[in-house]
Amino acid sequence: MLIAIDGPAAAGKGTLAGRLAASLGLAHLDTGLLYRATAARLMRGKSNATSEQAATAAAQSLSAGDLEGSQLRGERLAGLASLIATYDSVRSALIDFQRDFAASPPRGAKGAVLDGRDICSVILPDADIKIFVTANAEVRAERRYQELRGRGVHSIRSVILREMQERDERDRRREVAPMVLAGDAFLLDTTNMDADAAFEAAYEFVMLHHIENGRSE
Ligand code: DC
Repeated sequence: MLIAIDGPAAAGKGTLAGRLAASLGLAHLDTGLLYRATAARLMRGKSNATSEQAATAAAQSLSAGDLEGSQLRGERLAGLASLIATYDSVRSALIDFQRDFAASPPRGAKGAVLDGRDICSVILPDADIKIFVTANAEVRAERRYQELRGRGVHSIRSVILREMQERDERDRRREVAPMVLAGDAFLLDTTNMDADAAFEAAYEFVMLHHIENGRSE
């Protein structure tokens, strides 16, 4: 079973994807980590951080080990990740990793849940289940603020909101694989939901869809 989840920053994609994966025995890949790890590599290198060539080389040399570590979760890396995610050659370099993960999930899992921006539209257009998770920008910024606070990182709410809106705008408007609501995706607006309610709604959708598919086969 393949589940594709897309949506803007801090909409709750990662939490939802992790919980669906755990309850269904699937592997989970947060594809934002690929772009963040590429950005982290660039920041460590001496080259011009935003050059397409350097970013592509960084993306091509990524390995699974680069995706670990809480230092990838910061807001500064998120900004650079969103910038380099506009480069076609960076995105192409990361496609195989994502599709290979879905085709052969680690530890013998029965399938995979991938979350990101272009999973439903580009990476796994034939996924069994597609979900677009969103929430109003203020609510998402507040969640991100609280998440950072929980990790001991002090930030300013208005700055988080502004930077998040800038990233969303860039992710939505870029020419290559922009963030879109795929026509066949289930739209889950979590503005007035907590993580439990979002999980229950998504789980119910997965189960219904599964039953319907079973009937039509
Ligand atoms: O989900 P995130 O905040 O960790 O993602 C960081 C950036 O990576 C996001 O702003 C755009 C890019 N990204 C992407 O272009 N496509 C994906 N599938 C996942 C992330």
